[in-house]
Amino acid sequence: MTDIQNLKREAAAEALKFVEPGMVLGLGTGSTASAFIELLAERLKTEDLDLTCVATSEQTKRFAEERGIKIADFNTIADVDLTIDGADEIDPQLNLLKGGGGALLREKIVAFASDRVIIIADASKYVEQLGEFPLPVEIVDFGVAATLAMIEAAAEDAGCQGSIALRRTASGDTFRTDGGHLIADC
Ligand code: A5P
Repeated sequence: MTDIQNLKREAAAEALKFVEPGMVLGLGTGSTASAFIELLAERLKTEDLDLTCVATSEQTKRFAEERGIKIADFNTIADVDLTIDGADEIDPQLNLLKGGGGALLREKIVAFASDRVIIIADASKYVEQLGEFPLPVEIVDFGVAATLAMIEAAAEDAGCQGSIALRRTASGDTFRTDGGHLIADC
């Protein structure tokens, strides 16, 4: 295991201590959240925690189910006790950038429904100022040119410079989120 993977696992292990029996637990998306899910699956082999787990992405749902963790239908759950997720950048004031994995809308919906959110990350995510990583904005594809122009104008008003690009997959296709939306990387 690399140093970074070890650090992710250490952060995940700390977060696991906050999981209590009977909780509704939100599972984040990304490699750090996956480290947490792996440790959770190990714990569930020896402890019956009677958890109700919800996933922030289809990828997380598959990953958890492959490890024996049942995922509930989030459409039937209004309140989440605790969500554990990762981040792309964290500044000294603990502001975050998230969404590198394209799961930002669902992650945010689950986070807003959660009483508590714990973000776990390794040291490589710490930056003095957010913005080295592009800010992902999830947008619907109706009127995409108008939406991009509005994002650009809002960014200029806020004094931000730089490019805005629709995310593409490795094969060059337009990236689609689980909800079928586009991502503007700003
Ligand atoms: C997914 O959309 C993101 O918000 C992830 O939580 C974030 O990209 C961190 O991912 P890693 O843990 O893989 O770095």
